[in-house]
Amino acid sequence: MSSGPEPAVTTETHLDVAGESRLHQHLRHFWHPVAFSADITDDQPVQGELMGERLAIWRHDGSIRVFRDLCRHRGASLALGRIDQGCLRCAYHGWAYDESGTVVDIPARPDLSGSLNVGVESFPAAESAGLVWACLDPEPKFPVPELPVLEDRDYTHLFYEPYDWRCSMARRLENYFDFSHFAHVHHGVLGDRNDAAIADYSVRRDGGEIRIDAGPFLEFTDNPKNKGVATSGETYEAWKRYRIFMPNTMLLHSSAGSEGQDYTLFVAVAPVEPRRSRCFTIQSRNYALDQDQEFRDLQALILEQDKPVVESQRPEELPDDLAAEMHVKGADAGTLEYRRWLIEISNGTYQLAPAS
Ligand code: FES
Ligand SMILES: [Fe+2]
Repeated sequence: MSSGPEPAVTTETHLDVAGESRLHQHLRHFWHPVAFSADITDDQPVQGELMGERLAIWRHDGSIRVFRDLCRHRGASLALGRIDQGCLRCAYHGWAYDESGTVVDIPARPDLSGSLNVGVESFPAAESAGLVWACLDPEPKFPVPELPVLEDRDYTHLFYEPYDWRCSMARRLENYFDFSHFAHVHHGVLGDRNDAAIADYSVRRDGGEIRIDAGPFLEFTDNPKNKGVATSGETYEAWKRYRIFMPNTMLLHSSAGSEGQDYTLFVAVAPVEPRRSRCFTIQSRNYALDQDQEFRDLQALILEQDKPVVESQRPEELPDDLAAEMHVKGADAGTLEYRRWLIEISNGTYQLAPAS
């Protein structure tokens, strides 16, 4: 039987209701962002959330710890406690937990202190890319994402206030490299709905990442990202390079016009619940260094445009037989590759790709 030409539209790659649920379970094996590093000081613990767990995040002598946020005595939040001589001390009756999570002091029964084999779960924790990362499994599978530009003194960095959206982690992240929405949702800013065709682009796996090089994209010059752009027109052609650190983080490099101008956007998304995601965003640039407010305004505008659409996405709540989505060959190549890898994760068959 002849296979014939490949169809231009396919339904082959989708995450149905059961697939999304399996994926969420498997996310336990990966690093997720839980706080900005700068927000975790030696002064007091901070509460985080990840996959339905409350976390107590704290620091002592520079080292970071992430505990289940549940005192073993009467279940109070340890994030309400205080850091006391290298221990996390519960606010309610003062039980103290050492850095491994073991109870080392019970003020009401000093005679028991040190003799009880009781502790709170301590999760793997790491600091990278300006963030605290945690994994709910003792052996995280893929590397923690890195962001070397944070060390570059020629750049300025904006750490945007974290925010939650009512959507899955995968929906939130995919939105950043779902190119064909730019011209429609961000008409007049990141694209033109009257010129919305997407040129073929390259997609490949490399280690724990998907690399995408795409362009040209028509962008408008009157937004701050494109200040100094070397064109006299209203629009110019931007190129975008993505590193997608599986499964929840992306780094975008976008040419900002004039030679040497570099704009990067780093977005790490935590699945705090199956349908609620927390986004941590760091924007770096080596130009327009004194225009933070303009860049904040641009970020606010883009989010305001994206949020209702992303939160509205729904095959996952339709019956299984309607759950398949239509994918456009070429234009959706990046998001298709992302979904293929997510499906491998949901099936437990994930692995690092050979580094190229
Ligand atoms: S609930 Fe924490 S010490 Fe009692
Ligand atoms: Fe968008």
